[in-house]
Amino acid sequence: MSDLPRIGVLVSGRGSNLAALIAATENGTLPAQIALVISSKPNVPALEIAANAGIPTQVMRPRDFASRHEEGEAIIAAMRSAQVELLVLAGYARLVDPCVIEAYRWKIINIHPSLLPAFAGSMAPGPQAAALAAGVKFSGCTTHFVTEDTDAGPIIDQAVVPVHDDDTVETLADRILRAEHQLLPASVAAVLAGEVQIIDGRRTVRRSSVHAGD
Ligand code: GRF
Repeated sequence: MSDLPRIGVLVSGRGSNLAALIAATENGTLPAQIALVISSKPNVPALEIAANAGIPTQVMRPRDFASRHEEGEAIIAAMRSAQVELLVLAGYARLVDPCVIEAYRWKIINIHPSLLPAFAGSMAPGPQAAALAAGVKFSGCTTHFVTEDTDAGPIIDQAVVPVHDDDTVETLADRILRAEHQLLPASVAAVLAGEVQIIDGRRTVRRSSVHAGD
């Protein structure tokens, strides 16, 4: 087994962010090993992407469990047995149970397709459609630590993209997605490298930007 930090990825669908994470582990920009991929849905492309990369997968459907808590306990058990130290939600269409957040406190990263706190609280393409409807001129994506407050944990990083007058939800979502594929692996790498410091459980700063006396 390599000495690289072991990450677990939770998915539900297309898996393009998972593919970006895998590519980053392969080209060395994300010095980590993806040890386990758990999907809340069977037969999704993300599972095939993981299997093609030789990554173990498990399907945990909500209906396989009596409660969200039981589902959370199963996720914790699987991730712990894979010796996972950091979880990444990459298009995971579930709210994780508080027991997972507690077990992996400040060790769960989510990517959301808007500039949080704008357009929080719904799954893609809801945030992209809401951005278009609001007439914003810029949108983007946000990586953040997962807390009990949905889409409201400390922001790790953001990437901005323009919104064009002739955008559709699809063209905007595509532009944001390309930014996501850069932002997510970079954020995971920064967290694993210990560069992201959480202040008062509310916001983050880069360690290199923390001044003496702060
Ligand atoms: C992305 O837009 C992500 O921001 C959101 O869900 C989508 C997942 O896409 N949370 P994919 O499965 O990674 O292709």
